[in-house]
Amino acid sequence: MRRIILAGNWKMNQTPKQAKALLEELKNSLPATRHTVAVFPPYLALTQAVAAGEPFLVGAQNCHFEDKGAFTGEISLPMLSEIGVKAVIVGHSERRQYFGETDETVNKKTLAVLRAGLTPVVCIGETLPQRESGAYADVLKGQLCAALSGVSAQQVPYVVVAYEPVWAIGTGVTASAQQAEEVCAMLRGQLGLLYDADRASQVSILYGGSMNAGNAASLLEMENIDGGLIGGASLKPAEFAAIVQAANEVKGALV
Ligand code: PGA
Repeated sequence: MRRIILAGNWKMNQTPKQAKALLEELKNSLPATRHTVAVFPPYLALTQAVAAGEPFLVGAQNCHFEDKGAFTGEISLPMLSEIGVKAVIVGHSERRQYFGETDETVNKKTLAVLRAGLTPVVCIGETLPQRESGAYADVLKGQLCAALSGVSAQQVPYVVVAYEPVWAIGTGVTASAQQAEEVCAMLRGQLGLLYDADRASQVSILYGGSMNAGNAASLLEMENIDGGLIGGASLKPAEFAAIVQAANEVKGALV
């Protein structure tokens, strides 16, 4: 069965020293779980996160799609892989909005991450006007298909999809559990069309956008929501711990 993943996207927060302290605090706060707990700190704190060990799976927030070369300021997958990074967020809406990430670069990065043997966490999401006009289903299907272009049926179970409505990120406005489930079910249906139902059932689909201790259980209760990509709340150990606890309660027993 597919993995349940509680992933903290730290964004551009935490110096290496602060990261070390936060990892320590998280370790002391998190409940035991059979689910995957992932952290995505800034590049400079990745080594600290890998050194922190269990229970963290460590991911980066971005990467370049080439292995090396004249790309000043970029970080490659061989560099990430060598220090023990296991996953990479690809196509976060902040990168699409502020750093010129396009469906095409998201696709190149997704393929590169898979080639490197890491897990791409592919982010898709609609803006508020797209939701309000009702065009969101087509927008999301388009983003998903573009991101996965050239991903084989063998590879697709190693992809994680994160549905992050742009209007819910960092705003305190969460998609209702029904809105999020409707989209996640639709995305799984689309994966079934692109591949087959069996492969689609193996892909973890996360919800992201103002997930917190108060709303996590109702979102995670949904059949097609396999975890969360959590920004603000992942920097607060008690909140993140409560989200992991909610997953334990609604997605299955403790180890
Ligand atoms: P948020 O961020 O939980 O702070 O809304 C989620 C994300 O952007 O991944």
